[in-house]
Amino acid sequence: MTTPEDGLAPPPVRRKRVQGGAATADVVLSAHAGGNAELFPRILALHVPDGATIADVTYGQGVFWRQVPPDRYRLLASDLSTGTDCRALPHADGAIDALVLDPPYMEGLLRPKAETRGGQGSHAALRTFYDAGGGREGPGGGRWHQAVLDLYLDAAREARRVLRDHGILIVKCQDEVSANRQELTHVQIVTGLAAMGFYARDLFVLMRPNRPGIARLLRQVHARKNHSYFLVFQKVPEGGEVARYRTRDLPQRG
Ligand SMILES: C[S@@+](CC[C@H](N)C(=O)[O-])C[C@H]1O[C@@H](n2cnc3c(N)ncnc32)[C@H](O)[C@@H]1O
Repeated sequence: MTTPEDGLAPPPVRRKRVQGGAATADVVLSAHAGGNAELFPRILALHVPDGATIADVTYGQGVFWRQVPPDRYRLLASDLSTGTDCRALPHADGAIDALVLDPPYMEGLLRPKAETRGGQGSHAALRTFYDAGGGREGPGGGRWHQAVLDLYLDAAREARRVLRDHGILIVKCQDEVSANRQELTHVQIVTGLAAMGFYARDLFVLMRPNRPGIARLLRQVHARKNHSYFLVFQKVPEGGEVARYRTRDLPQRG
């Protein structure tokens, strides 16, 4: 310890830290049992400021938006089924505050043979792309899962272009077992997007409340998945380091 007699400057006075805030149990939790329509508005409320311009580029039936107050955000909805591919968006560079991405997450939706394919009808253009050789052979021969992942990554690259700096990207996904291989899609997306300059700001687990019915089961090898994810990313500006980035509010537009 220094004293005035040492001839050294006295140590700086440490201010006592005052804790603010009020005690509450009313917080947004990371795991939910229920549906997309209940959880999605809470994710928006936590991560996207009111009045933000949000592009939902795989709008589908608009289930995500069913419980979002219509005047809270400026929604720009598009989908492949209405002519807009999420990998080639009509928005200008940096024009969007937040973007929502929820493409088909199962390789079964992309299978070429109609009799083994899931999700009949709504993903025809995507299947055509991969049937025509657009798909690539992935690790472990997971061509079809690789097709799923490629779509996420290509769409995220386009999201990065249209998002402003520090903009929010919300990705819905689910892991899958494909060709007898465990594919942790959410990990692959976090890793792939980090390499692109996206910081993983939050992660939500959504658990289906009902038990899935199994038509034919010979021997169970992997756990049957009854959960999916919402991943929330933030765009790290060009030249910034994802590993050093810290969560921050979206700055006001000037
Ligand atoms: C799981 S659904 C989305 C559901 C939606 N989030 C909702 O709340 O209703 C997947 C959607 O992705 C769309 N889609 C598939 N490939 C696409 C692409 N390349 N670009 C844009 N949308 C695509 C499909 O048409 C489908 O509507």
